Amino acid sequence: MQFVFDHTSGIAPRDVMERAQSLDAYRSIVNDALNSATYDAPESSVRLPFDLERAEVIVKMTEQLHDDALRYVVVVGIGGSNLGTRAIYEALRGPLDLLDVRTPKLLFLDTVNPELCGGILRILSDLDGPEQFIVLSVSKSGGTAETIVNTEALLTGLAPRFGDIHHRLVVVTDRGSKLWSAAASPSHRLAIPERVGGRYSVLSAVGIFPLHLAGLDVSALHAGARDMANACVADPPSNPALQSASLTYLHYQRGLRTHNSFLFHPSLASLGLWYRQLMGESIGKEHDLDGAIVREGIVPIVSIGSTDLHSMAQLFYGGPQEVFTNIIIAPFRESITLPPTLQFPNLVANIEGKSYEDIMDAIIHGVAETYVDAGLPFATVALDAVSEYELGAYLQFRMIEMMYLAQLLHVNAFDQPAVEAYKKATKFLLAQ
Ligand code: PA5
Repeated sequence: MQFVFDHTSGIAPRDVMERAQSLDAYRSIVNDALNSATYDAPESSVRLPFDLERAEVIVKMTEQLHDDALRYVVVVGIGGSNLGTRAIYEALRGPLDLLDVRTPKLLFLDTVNPELCGGILRILSDLDGPEQFIVLSVSKSGGTAETIVNTEALLTGLAPRFGDIHHRLVVVTDRGSKLWSAAASPSHRLAIPERVGGRYSVLSAVGIFPLHLAGLDVSALHAGARDMANACVADPPSNPALQSASLTYLHYQRGLRTHNSFLFHPSLASLGLWYRQLMGESIGKEHDLDGAIVREGIVPIVSIGSTDLHSMAQLFYGGPQEVFTNIIIAPFRESITLPPTLQFPNLVANIEGKSYEDIMDAIIHGVAETYVDAGLPFATVALDAVSEYELGAYLQFRMIEMMYLAQLLHVNAFDQPAVEAYKKATKFLLAQ
């Protein structure tokens, strides 16, 4: 993965480096968290891919529960408890996964929606036996209403067909939470390290357990995240997270309050949504680290290329100039080439013999040129492949970037007091 910023980024590289250097002290805090043997620091999610012992426990448990007959793993969780897993799974399995014969498949159940939950109940009820599915309930707190409601609905909804399926439930949660004690046995639960928050937890059991069950290469995911973590504690000239955080911060200071992840690969749409949550919850804060009211926040939006050129480009080019864009590119995993002689040769010129990659390249370069001509700033993130390794690197890059950005904004990257407020209010209303 490469993070590229230059004259097209709208801020002089010298200013970006200067800002990055101002984070030297915090960079060594992140470095300490990475090299620590414990999960005591708020930044300790950075060491998850280095914790081979923990990874081995997760993989072993996956193997114990895996059965050749397994067809579906229902990931029940919301926000940080499902977005990262979903991002990786959808990036690697592509948009037509549900129509593909490959199993096991992950199915995601997040909000409270009877059509979605009912649909999953019907799919599971059609199976031959409970060995063909696992219900995975993921909740750091172990008490999020949506997750507990959906877990209950699945277990009770499947009972008439399969009887007691408690042993098909696995929980990933904080050790000692209420959900922790709901597991049928110790081999049906996995802990999230206490200081690792939801939106920083994708490289823990939260993501690793279901992704490994689905047959994805989680050791490559961790390897990519490890290499990137090392790069993201390096000196500013070779540190993509520091550079990106500094650039985003400087644009925010100049009034660019929207951050657009423009992903030129439809399979990466959920990766954009994962980042949206990471930025929304980490940076959107009423108070700063000293308790003063600041109301900081950058609005993260997600656009898909080239689809959204036909939806949002008019706004980006013609509307208010307050968006800082990251163009995110990755090679396609398959190849299609048009024949040298077309059936309809007069409709679009010069496409004969061209591959989808050639055409998307022309679109991406066209977009970049138009951004430059319009004076709209952007940086580019180029993935070398849509692979476990590169996705691990990307996730780690963004999580560490967010820690640096929060530090520049002097806000807490790790709490979400406003989310807690809605959860409390919901529970209060349910009690009445
Ligand atoms: O990132 C976060 O901390 C939140 O988005 C949580 O993941 C989300 O609110 C779900 O909480 P929990 O994992 O406790 O069920």
